[in-house]
Amino acid sequence: MSGPLLELEGVHTHIGAYHILHGVDLQVARGELTVLLGRNGAGKTTTLRTIMGLWHASAGHVRFDGQEIGAQSTPEIARKGIAYVPENMGIFADLTVRENMILAARGAKNAEEIDAKRLEWVFSLFPAMKKFWQHPAGLLSGGQKQMLAVARAIVEPRHLLLVDEPSKGLAPAIIQNMIAAFRELKQTDTTILLVEQNFNFARQLGDQVAVMDGGRIVHSGTMAALAEDEALQQRLLGLSLGAHQ
Ligand SMILES: Nc1ncnc2c1ncn2[C@@H]1O[C@H](COP(=O)(O)OP(=O)(O)O)[C@@H](O)[C@H]1O
Ligand SMILES: [Mg+2]
Repeated sequence: MSGPLLELEGVHTHIGAYHILHGVDLQVARGELTVLLGRNGAGKTTTLRTIMGLWHASAGHVRFDGQEIGAQSTPEIARKGIAYVPENMGIFADLTVRENMILAARGAKNAEEIDAKRLEWVFSLFPAMKKFWQHPAGLLSGGQKQMLAVARAIVEPRHLLLVDEPSKGLAPAIIQNMIAAFRELKQTDTTILLVEQNFNFARQLGDQVAVMDGGRIVHSGTMAALAEDEALQQRLLGLSLGAHQ
């Protein structure tokens, strides 16, 4: 199948009485990492939740692999091989790292049932997960919790990974670890849609970029073109950009 792996066309989303997305047009190319940038409140999280079926679009189309998924339930969407790492990470603080990983692997009842090679690969991306395997997730540092959240999403091969602000609140050294892990992940055939506010993080990973404001996509193109055009950065991202450099 050719064409984008994921396509939103004219998507409107209402949350209760509030009209949040105002006709989002977004394409996520196969095998690439697309960054969705935009200031706080632009509608990035709402876009990811709409893709996952956690909110339903009131108008427009959400297509995955050419198929309309806008009316499907979240479990149906997840079964297509779409994983979502939410902003709050969605990990279970009282359970161990091991138990968190078992719950994330569909069908696994114990650690032995998780594909061993896959698990070794996840450990190679995030060595702290191996080190703290038997520790309650609640005792991990903020960066390690974020790594566990991503590790859970990739414990099985996925076609599409949606990740909401993985660099949020992390120290610079940890952000570098996260960048290295995403670079490694990009070597697989997983397509990634990454929401970010940190342009410095985003520019090191993105193939494509879309910029959101006021519930719409206001720019899309290659990350390389945006990275070398300071005037465009200033116009699209304004002061929020400088704050992260
Ligand atoms: N549950 C909700 N109820 C009402 N308004 C919401 C809710 N969630 C988000 N919003 C509003 O929708 C807009 C977009 O939010 P969001 O998608 O979280 O933005 P971003 O992730 O880009 O910061 C904001 O104005 C926010 O206040
Ligand atoms: Mg958000």
